[in-house]
Amino acid sequence: MTTRDSTAPSARPALPRHRLRFDTADMYEAGHGVTAKELAGLQPELARVHAVVQEKSRAGLDAEFACLALPTHMPAGLPAIEQAAADVRHFRDIVVAGIGGSSLGAKAVYHALREVNPSAEQPALHFLENIDPYHLQFLLARLKPESTAVIAISKSGGTIETVVQYLALREWLENCLGPVEARKHQWIVTDPKQGWMRELAAREHLPALPLPPKVGGRYSVLTAVGLLPLAAVGVDVRALLDGAADNAARCATDDPKVNPALELAALHYLLDTRHGKRISIMMPYADPLLQFVNWYCQLWAESLGKRVPGAEPAGTLPVRAMGSVDQHSQLQMYLESRPDKMFTFIALDRWEDDRPVALPETERHTFPYLAGKRLSEVLDAEFRATREVITRARHPNVTLHLPALDAHVLGQLIDLYQRVTVYCGLLYGVNPLDQPAVELGKQLTLRFLNERGKPGA
Ligand code: PA5
Repeated sequence: MTTRDSTAPSARPALPRHRLRFDTADMYEAGHGVTAKELAGLQPELARVHAVVQEKSRAGLDAEFACLALPTHMPAGLPAIEQAAADVRHFRDIVVAGIGGSSLGAKAVYHALREVNPSAEQPALHFLENIDPYHLQFLLARLKPESTAVIAISKSGGTIETVVQYLALREWLENCLGPVEARKHQWIVTDPKQGWMRELAAREHLPALPLPPKVGGRYSVLTAVGLLPLAAVGVDVRALLDGAADNAARCATDDPKVNPALELAALHYLLDTRHGKRISIMMPYADPLLQFVNWYCQLWAESLGKRVPGAEPAGTLPVRAMGSVDQHSQLQMYLESRPDKMFTFIALDRWEDDRPVALPETERHTFPYLAGKRLSEVLDAEFRATREVITRARHPNVTLHLPALDAHVLGQLIDLYQRVTVYCGLLYGVNPLDQPAVELGKQLTLRFLNERGKPGA
C-alpha cells in the first residue's frame, strides 16, 4: 500500500470502488521515514500481535478483544436496537447524555453524515458531553420537552458527568410533562447486569439496551451505544457494520502489505520508537470529519498513552487539525518546529454536494486559475500543496482517500482505527483496553465532591 498520487491510475492495485485507499509512500525512507529493513525486522512482532488479535477476538462478544468481533457479531443484535430506534424516532429532538466513549463515536458518525445528507424529516441529535451549565441551559431553552427524547449512555452506569446530565434532563422532562409521561421519553444504554443505570432502569421500568460487557467505552460505537442514537436518526447502521466487516476481512492477514491496519500500526510504532516522531497529527480535508478526528484522538490517547515498566512510556500525542483552516494556523509550527511529528491526511474522492466557484466575468483576469473550478477542486489543491510542503520538509505522512462520505466508509474507518490502536498497544506492550489514569480522575472527583461542604473543607 505504498502508492503515491502521482502514480498512474493504471499502476495502482485495483480495489473495489467503495474501499478506503491508502498512500503510505511518504511514511517510508524518502523522508525521515521507516526503512524497508526496519519493517522487515518487525515482521516477527507483527505476526505475533496479529496472532494475539485473532486469538483474542475468536470467541466473539465473550472474547477479550470483543470490540474487534463486533462487525460480524453485532448484526444479530440489530433487531432489538432497530425496534428501540423506531420508538425514539417519533421525537423531533434526541439528547444524548454521555461522555467519552459513550458519546464521541455516535457524534462522529452523525456529524459526518448529517452534514452530507441533511434531512428535515429525521430527528436531530444533540450531545451534551460536558456538564457545562451554560450549554445545558442554552440547549434546553431551544428544545420542547413534549417532542424531546433522552438517551442516557454509560457503560459503567455511574459516570458522574453522565449521571448529572441525565438527572438534569429528567427533572426538566418531569417538571414539564409529569413523571409518568416523562418516563416515556427516556432510554438507557448500559451494562446488562450492573451499575446505577441498570438498577434504575429495572426499578422504573425504563427501556434499557445492553452493551456487551467485554466491550469498553471507546471501542463501543458499533454497539447500542452508537447504533441506537444513529439508527434513531435514520443512519444506515447495517451499512456501518458492513463497512466495518469489510475492513475486518481486509485485515485478516499478518502481511502489512495487505492488512492496512497492521501496516499503519507498524509505521506509527516505528516512527515513534526509532525516529522520535512523538506527535501524530490527523488532518482531514472535509469539515464533516472533524468529529471523527475527536473520536480517534480519544481512542488513541486513552488506549496508548501508558507507562511501560522498565522502558520508555508508550504512545504518541494525537493532535487534531483541519484542512485548510490550520494551514493558516498550525502549519508554520508543523513545518519548522521540532521534527517530531507525523501526519495523517484524510481526503475525499467524491463530494455529493459541490458547487462552482462563483467567479464573475469581471474578476476573471484577477483569478484566472479559479475559472471553471469547483470548491472541492480548490480544497484539493490546498490539500496537495500542504502535503507537498510537508513531504519536502521530510515529515512522514500518510493519506487516507475516502471514496465517499457514507455509512459504509465510516464503518471501515472505525474498524480500521480500532484495529490500528489495538495492534499498537500490543507492539508497545501496553493494555490498549484499560484507562487507569481516567479511573483515578473519576475517583478523585468523587473524593473532592465528598469533601466539599464538610466542616473545615
Ligand atoms: O473509553 C472509556 O472507557 C472512557 O472514555 C469512557 O467511555 C468514559 O469514561 C465514560 O464511561 P462510561 O461509559 O462508563 O460512562
